Amino acid sequence: MAQQYDDKLLDHDADGIQEFDNNLPKWWLYGFYFTIAFALVYMVMYHVTGSAPLSKQEYEQEMQIAEAINKSKPKKQLEIKVLTDAPSLAAGKAIFDGNNNLCYTCHKNDAGGLVGPNLTDDYWIHGCDLKSIMKNITTGFPDKGMVPFGSGAKLTEEQLLQVSSYVLSLHDTHPPDAKPIDPERELKCEDDDNDGH
Ligand code: HEC
Repeated sequence: MAQQYDDKLLDHDADGIQEFDNNLPKWWLYGFYFTIAFALVYMVMYHVTGSAPLSKQEYEQEMQIAEAINKSKPKKQLEIKVLTDAPSLAAGKAIFDGNNNLCYTCHKNDAGGLVGPNLTDDYWIHGCDLKSIMKNITTGFPDKGMVPFGSGAKLTEEQLLQVSSYVLSLHDTHPPDAKPIDPERELKCEDDDNDGH
């Protein structure tokens, strides 16, 4: 339908700009009515009946879903048990001999001991079971020069298990020129159950 204009000038002007008093175009009016209707529906849905979630609730719902998915996934719980398979021991050796953790610089590549004690004999200062060794590697002995993880380069729980298992696998290997036992401080290991020998 063609719009009827009567082009009657209104009697105000702003800096010489004047305007007609014509009806608003239909398309504009319908758009305007639509926004009113939309706002009403929106307000009722989101703020009155609560039948649709606000963005914060939506976020919380998604977080709950994510959490549920996470929980339902079987957690790969690392079993703290001496590893004896070749790949794990090789991984442990790589850590021991590697430059990230520097175990070898103090304990020697064959673990016969240098600055740090011999790790292959029956004598231990801080315990010979897997858990003690894992703990000792984690905390280190900063006052004796061994910082946590050897050089401070953090290991994952799995890597820790690998390098500890590797240390235990070296038991009784009798490396040449091993550091002698210091009978004053070293204790013979009583707990032999855990070292795989
Ligand atoms: C900067 C030298 C240094 C580095 C690097 C180092 N250690 Fe040690 N470590 C020592 C010293 C020194 C001790 C003895 C602590 C004591 O006398 O109480 C020790 C003790 C230990 C013990 C306890 C031995 C016992 O008799 O109870 C274990 C196990 C051990 N180190 C493993 C490691 C491993 C594995 C690494 C690498 C991740 C490593 N160390 C890196 C110096 C070092």
